[in-house]
Amino acid sequence: MALEKQSPCKVNFLLNLLGKRPDGFHELETLMHLVPICDRLTFDRKGTGIQLTCSDPTLPVDSKNLVYRAADLFLKNAGITDGVQMHLEKIVPTAAGLGGGSGDAAVTLLALKELFGEPLPTEKLSELAASLGSDIPFFLQNKPAIGVGRGEKITSLEPFPCLLGKSIIIVHPGFGISTPWAYQQMNNFPEAQNGKSGRAEKLAALLTKGDLASASKEFYNSLEAPALKKYPLLVLFQEFFREQGAITTLMSGSGSATFAIIDSQAQAEKILEKFKVQFGEKMWLAAVPLMHN
Ligand code: C5P
Repeated sequence: MALEKQSPCKVNFLLNLLGKRPDGFHELETLMHLVPICDRLTFDRKGTGIQLTCSDPTLPVDSKNLVYRAADLFLKNAGITDGVQMHLEKIVPTAAGLGGGSGDAAVTLLALKELFGEPLPTEKLSELAASLGSDIPFFLQNKPAIGVGRGEKITSLEPFPCLLGKSIIIVHPGFGISTPWAYQQMNNFPEAQNGKSGRAEKLAALLTKGDLASASKEFYNSLEAPALKKYPLLVLFQEFFREQGAITTLMSGSGSATFAIIDSQAQAEKILEKFKVQFGEKMWLAAVPLMHN
């Protein structure tokens, strides 16, 4: 029987770059939160080799797809030669800073572990996840988390009670931003490239304490510096959400998705309607409760 899995996306409440490393990556601290907007995947032990199909014909289904790469890495490391068939129903926009592809890859590792009777220990799965991409280990767990190093060293946090009942609006403007481009541009923004550490812990502490008013001022993303300069539309989104009374608004990850945290689902839906009047109907938009009970 095929195994069915949902793969949620994430937003970065904070992404603070702490300087460039000798290996070309950036040292950073990030606070990530899951968002229940999900891709859907199915996995089956069938056929020979790895076969991937995808609802989005513009996405590759070979080794350029992170789902394929995750399956290949898992099977090789577990010494499994059986065939696997996978299907990816893509809902989360790509090149958006929402970790869509990273989440899919993590879910693939977890699903194959389940499908083949746990042939690899959890630590090995984290190691494989980190080798596939900096954001992927976050999606092996299901809580808010702080990531350090490249973002791959994860400490899970308890859910923040002050976010219960709050909703999140996410808008994708229709163009993506490439992650390598965003990071390369940081050489032109030395102050944002070389932040001081401690901000993720500070924001997490305020959210844990339930001080949402103070926390809302601490949301921050170093990667906004080049993105907002090149795409002023993203600044207009943030101005709009602030005018509409958003608790906070920020670009997620390397963009281009922008999110806003709103007091209630009813208010978020009203703001969505106003957004469409202001910016047109064509963009990808979603408003969902940030947490489940
Ligand atoms: O790890 P991931 O595949 O997501 O990284 C994509 C690109 O983003 C890297 O090749 C690198 O250029 C940049 N990056 C970085 N520092 C990080 C994470 C990513 O410079 N901590």
